[in-house]
Amino acid sequence: MIFYFFLVIFLQVNHNGHLTFDSSYSSYSPQRFPLYGSIDIIAPFWTDLDNRQTGFVLYNQYTNGSVLQQATQDINSYFPNLNFSADWVFVATWYEVAYYGTKTTFQAVLISGGQKCFVLMNYGSIASTTLSAGYDTINSFHHFTIPGSFSSSATGDNSTFSLSSNVNVTGRWAFQVDSGVRGCQKKSKYVYIQIYKYKA
Ligand SMILES: *[C@@H]1O[C@H](CO)[C@@H](O)[C@H](O)[C@H]1NC(C)=O
Ligand SMILES: *[C@@H]1O[C@H](CO)[C@@H](O)[C@H](O)[C@H]1NC(C)=O
Ligand SMILES: *[C@@H]1O[C@H](CO)[C@@H](O)[C@H](O)[C@H]1NC(C)=O
Ligand SMILES: *[C@@H]1O[C@H](CO)[C@@H](O)[C@H](O)[C@H]1NC(C)=O
Repeated sequence: MIFYFFLVIFLQVNHNGHLTFDSSYSSYSPQRFPLYGSIDIIAPFWTDLDNRQTGFVLYNQYTNGSVLQQATQDINSYFPNLNFSADWVFVATWYEVAYYGTKTTFQAVLISGGQKCFVLMNYGSIASTTLSAGYDTINSFHHFTIPGSFSSSATGDNSTFSLSSNVNVTGRWAFQVDSGVRGCQKKSKYVYIQIYKYKA
């Protein structure tokens, strides 16, 4: 999918729990994938979040060091036989962001190396809300919805997002996203990252 096809990419971290590319996206109403739309979106927790009340939206980018080693090890354990080696990791964290007075923490981690790209979604404490989680691509050539999206079991004290996994690591969901029409062959050298959030 998405994060590598352009020589320069603009990665937007939006406060309503999603990442988009090129342009920010302010939609706070979660929608079901596939959207058959005109955007690539990675949505760990698409709902109406307001960081003016509490919380932070943060990001970090890594091109060397222990985070790359950890990412390499994790991906090879979740997706065996790929002989994967990470050379870029991007972590966006929504820390204790508010949903009408509650606090929710989650992350999206983008990992790439060679021709391969992965997305991890990590869930911490999750307040009750209605949300959509997963990813979608332009025209929905590729999309995935984390099971339980839009259901009450996805959030709250016993959130299935926080307590389950598709890779046997509680609270973590991992996806390989490089197959498809727009693969990640053209690795971006420059990534411009902008955070869109409410000002305090
Ligand atoms: C990692 O990359 C950063 C930024 O490019 C650089 O400042 C730092 O020295 C590098 N660290 C190592 C251990 O190579
Ligand atoms: C795995 O990749 C490394 C370099 O990235 C290479 O030296 C090694 O031969 C590869 N192993 C296999 C089994 O493909
Ligand atoms: C969550 O699970 C615990 C342990 O099974 C249970 O005691 C608690 O009532 C559950 N909370 C909710 C909100 O369902
Ligand atoms: C899942 O992880 C646990 C330990 O974290 C391990 O004991 C168990 O064998 C794993 N299950 C599978 C199917 O890999």
